[in-house]
Amino acid sequence: MSRLVVLGSVNVDATSYVDAFPEPGETIHSHDYRMSLGGKGANQAIAAHLCGADVAFVARLGDDAAAEVARAAFARFGLPAEGVATVPGSPTGVAQITVAATGENTIVVTAGANAAVGPDVVAAEAERIAAADVVLTQGELPVATIEALARACDDAATRFVLNLAPPVGVTADATSVADPLVVNVHEARAVGIGRTLADDADVDAWRDAAASVVGDLARSVVVTLGARGAVAADADGAWAVAAPEVDAVDTTGAGDAATGALAAMLAEGRALPDAVRVAVAAGAIAVGSRGTVDSYAGRADVLALADRLELG
Ligand code: RIB
Ligand code: NA
Repeated sequence: MSRLVVLGSVNVDATSYVDAFPEPGETIHSHDYRMSLGGKGANQAIAAHLCGADVAFVARLGDDAAAEVARAAFARFGLPAEGVATVPGSPTGVAQITVAATGENTIVVTAGANAAVGPDVVAAEAERIAAADVVLTQGELPVATIEALARACDDAATRFVLNLAPPVGVTADATSVADPLVVNVHEARAVGIGRTLADDADVDAWRDAAASVVGDLARSVVVTLGARGAVAADADGAWAVAAPEVDAVDTTGAGDAATGALAAMLAEGRALPDAVRVAVAAGAIAVGSRGTVDSYAGRADVLALADRLELG
């Protein structure tokens, strides 16, 4: 099995389902609520695990009731959690999420124990990082940690996949070794990809924008386009993958489903365009039902859908 190290965040998601988002100062009723495992690191680790990768997940939980929610979810999915430690006196990361009838969401994240994943954790994991096929992280860890991880991967010649969500300000050194740098359109503009492009600009324009920064901003780039799929570029070319038509029920964590699947496929040696097809398939399935990890599909279903998607 391919080895994938995910160093990332864990949150417990407190999600309220509403008809429409409240205005500032407004109080509204939600019509449903769920508390479940989230955090971009945990979501992506589980997505990759479901796609068949041998995942080592490195993360920190608080010593509170929320940590039990997270540990129970890891056990339920069979995600190995040897690398998940408790930070005494800290709360577990939490995300307050509101999902509107359109399937769109707003998210407020409080880092909690995720803030304790410092560069020292990267140093402690040096052996695992060196032995991995791919290392994956996201923008929910401290900036110094992301930068240290990028350096460690570069030193060990381990492929580094960086999902800069949210788009925290890491050094150019850190993004330059990302292979790929994975961003949505908002994050893309924030890091200088397609700065003048609107969300709904032509897919070709987004593909060209991704291609224009390869070898400079990052070794390769994937820009996710939501319901329109994704574009990708590396030194060999640039591609677009259109998403299948789906009814969006809850888009929360769909990008994580895609990124986790992408990392899993790269770890097993698939080329970037093929891995992006699988990523788009995984994301499309995830928007079809509520929650993050609870809406993710297993390897067989994801690969079957990916086989029907074409590269443009
Ligand atoms: O990407 C979705 C995730 O963002 C949620 O699970 C929430 O925890 C936040 O980290
Ligand atoms: Na979902």
